[in-house]
Amino acid sequence: MSTDQWARWLLHRRDGDSATIRAHHSPALAAFRDGVLDRADLRPDDVLLDVGCGTGLVGFGALERLGPDGRVIFTDVSQELLDDCRRTAAGDERCSFLRASAEDLTGVADASVDAVTTRSVLIYCTRKADAFAEFFRVLRPGGRLAIFEPINSFPRQHRPGDLLGLAGSPVDDLIARVVAVLTGDGPLVDFDERDLLAWAEGAGFTAVELDYRAQLDVPAPPLPAWSQLKHTAPNPLAPTYAEAMAAALDEEERAHLDAYLSSSAHHPTRRTMAVAYLRATVPD
Ligand SMILES: C[S@@+](CC[C@H](N)C(=O)[O-])C[C@H]1O[C@@H](n2cnc3c(N)ncnc32)[C@H](O)[C@@H]1O
Repeated sequence: MSTDQWARWLLHRRDGDSATIRAHHSPALAAFRDGVLDRADLRPDDVLLDVGCGTGLVGFGALERLGPDGRVIFTDVSQELLDDCRRTAAGDERCSFLRASAEDLTGVADASVDAVTTRSVLIYCTRKADAFAEFFRVLRPGGRLAIFEPINSFPRQHRPGDLLGLAGSPVDDLIARVVAVLTGDGPLVDFDERDLLAWAEGAGFTAVELDYRAQLDVPAPPLPAWSQLKHTAPNPLAPTYAEAMAAALDEEERAHLDAYLSSSAHHPTRRTMAVAYLRATVPD
């Protein structure tokens, strides 16, 4: 089993070790990856730095777009995830690996990369403005930054007690108590899309473009089977839904909520979420 929370989540708890849940997440992840890479505007021989590479969603996607002289530098705070990427790279000499945080990219020289990408990483950073300063430092003049981040302060503000889009159900009170265990304050919710713009501008970037999409109570497809979903966690810092239920509810309440959610394939869900893509350029 993985030793750090990031690897544990990406390799196990995001999908509860279920191939069905993995397949459920896969199209959205592919779309986010492509949204980032489209904005990075890659040329065949670019050097791309992927910050917080995880299992390499963006980095390996980039390799498919680069030519034989292109390069991808995979960076992450998790050595276990870097090792996982190294195994996936299987000796591809266009790949290198560096343990570093977004806020301190020591080891990457000034003005040495053509593109910086990052997906769902700043949301875990406590010093987000410092990360933007580092992205600016390592990019060469004309280099591009392409980012995707969920804006979790949006659902927090609009549907604070909601779980999985089930707001308005007869078990709302139980759900709200589970949600209180699942969600914390801190870096996940301490920013919004306007902060991303301000940090990019503050770091010195030009041609800053923000694509923001918010959804409030938008009808969504049914949930995957609760028997599998309950062993997943919504993010690396959160417990699984089952763990949160165990912490928040007594046995009877838990059984009641479990029974309701076990028939969740029949309950309508409504999505409330916001995401932002940001693209920016270092002035020539
Ligand atoms: C939600 S995962 C996203 C992984 C990957 N970017 C993707 O798109 O699949 C968050 C990643 O950020 C990494 N991470 C967490 N805090 C970080 C930090 N301060 N600097 C760099 N990476 C960080 C974690 O190790 C994890 O790989």
